[in-house]
Amino acid sequence: MKAVLIDKFVPDVSQLKLSSVPSPIPSASKPIRVRITHASLTHVDNLYAQGLHQNNQRHVKPPFILGTEFAGYVVSAPSSSSFRPGTKVFGGSLGAYAEEICIDEANLRKPPSRWTCKEACAMGSSGAISWGALVSVGKLKAGEWVCVLGAAGGLGVVACQIALALGANVVAVVGGEKKAQVMKRLGVNAVVRYDDPDWEKRVMEATGGEGVDVVYDSVGAVLSSIKCCAYRGRVIIVGFAARGGQVEEVKMNRILLKGITVVGYRFGEHGRRFPDETQAIWREFMNLVETKGIKPIVYDREYIGLEAIGAGLKDQASRKSWGRAVMTVTEEEEVKTTIHKDSGTTISRL
Ligand SMILES: NC(=O)c1ccc[n+]([C@@H]2O[C@H](COP(=O)([O-])OP(=O)(O)OC[C@H]3O[C@@H](n4cnc5c(N)ncnc54)[C@H](OP(=O)(O)O)[C@@H]3O)[C@@H](O)[C@H]2O)c1
Repeated sequence: MKAVLIDKFVPDVSQLKLSSVPSPIPSASKPIRVRITHASLTHVDNLYAQGLHQNNQRHVKPPFILGTEFAGYVVSAPSSSSFRPGTKVFGGSLGAYAEEICIDEANLRKPPSRWTCKEACAMGSSGAISWGALVSVGKLKAGEWVCVLGAAGGLGVVACQIALALGANVVAVVGGEKKAQVMKRLGVNAVVRYDDPDWEKRVMEATGGEGVDVVYDSVGAVLSSIKCCAYRGRVIIVGFAARGGQVEEVKMNRILLKGITVVGYRFGEHGRRFPDETQAIWREFMNLVETKGIKPIVYDREYIGLEAIGAGLKDQASRKSWGRAVMTVTEEEEVKTTIHKDSGTTISRL
């Protein structure tokens, strides 16, 4: 099958090439085989390709197939599995930039039937990550004010949707007008642009001068986050998208003066240590999807075929995309037809 194999890290993602690799074989730890229709173009994949992510020190070393989030259809699964051949699924695992993947049950889910594969892929793990950060760790409650930094990004946009669905007031901070429009369409309470040099003041003004109760920071701006907080605010550190590898240092008196709580949330590590909690986070988030009708926000540029990988990851890194950019690996209809032929039955009966 075709895949984006990293046999050594690349300094520039436009150098990424397709390789021909053996198709994955189901094993005891990864017994479910999935044909991939779509894969997400994420900040993490950009870092993984270049060897710049903290996981490249331990878990993710060459050779590996790039790509962390996908959607598609189950080709085969053990009879004990809750997934049947032909089931539409989305999941998170290394190896998503390929025509097929083998995966364990815990990292695979069924999307609501109204979501296309592309939409399911765009949601990926973002909902569970943002729920874990805002609710499990951040203890966000209805009526509180939350400021989301990197609000138009893949994680940020779902953080805004979750906060609104929970009845919180949202200040979305973004880097440009197109992204501001996306936020307005979502119905956030205020949009602030951090190309305004006084953007922290604008966040304070949006809350009537009090400051926010919670900051969701996926860009790496802890000092600014503290400036945006009310007394005893909570800052949740999720990522460092704007830091280019240079993580900031913050003087501790800033934390003391406002009585701030700073807490980090690392979805992957949390899942490795506390898998049951992560499954509960997924259930709670998918319940919110059903009750509040949360929809995946998909960037509107098309990336067709695994060959689009370089252009797709370049757009992601240059902050062109909003919501989640998604690459079509194989058209959904083509995958459904192939599985239909292989299994000798109809998808609708599966
Ligand atoms: N904690 C966890 O478990 C976890 C899991 C997955 C990912 N992450 C991390 O969370 C962060 C966000 O991930 P994501 O998937 O939401 O990324 P994303 O879709 O690329 O969004 C990040 C947003 O950050 C903003 N940004 C500001 N400066 C930037 C810069 N110099 N380069 C790139 N983006 C910049 C961009 O919005 P504007 O253009 O509007 O500024 C962009 O929309 C990343 O650091 C990622 O590694 C954490």
